[in-house]
Amino acid sequence: MTLLKKRSAGYGLGLIALILVATTSWGQPALFKEADLKLGAELVAANKCEACHARRVGGDGTDIYNPQGRINNPSLLRGMVEYCNTELNLGLFPEEVTAVAAVLNRDHYKFK
Ligand code: HEC
Repeated sequence: MTLLKKRSAGYGLGLIALILVATTSWGQPALFKEADLKLGAELVAANKCEACHARRVGGDGTDIYNPQGRINNPSLLRGMVEYCNTELNLGLFPEEVTAVAAVLNRDHYKFK
């Protein structure tokens, strides 16, 4: 009985920790702390980033995001998004570039 109680308390704490991690931007590097992730996700969809990348790497296009490759820190990641923005004339504002990079970091690169 006591054992059972102890166990469920453990699960409770685990759950709280999980909720905290899921609802805060905990783990994002300083560069992306203020980023608007919702806006970033919308911009990735609106600018067809994935569609073009898919033509190059196949699948859903997300294989192009290679955390072990040349892009190995948050500011290089932001720089690459800025590069695509300029090259492709996407017309994103600086804070939009940051938002997009933050979403890519959260979903793919996972820099701390
Ligand atoms: C017209 C095609 C096209 C579009 C649209 C496009 N990209 Fe790219 N992107 C590329 C190509 C091609 C590469 C690979 C460049 C290389 O390997 O030198 C690339 C590479 C990248 C990389 C680096 C991947 C890595 O880890 O090496 C990032 C990040 C990226 N794109 C972000 C974006 C974002 C964000 C958008 C939308 C806002 C976008 N791209 C739209 C063609 C595109």
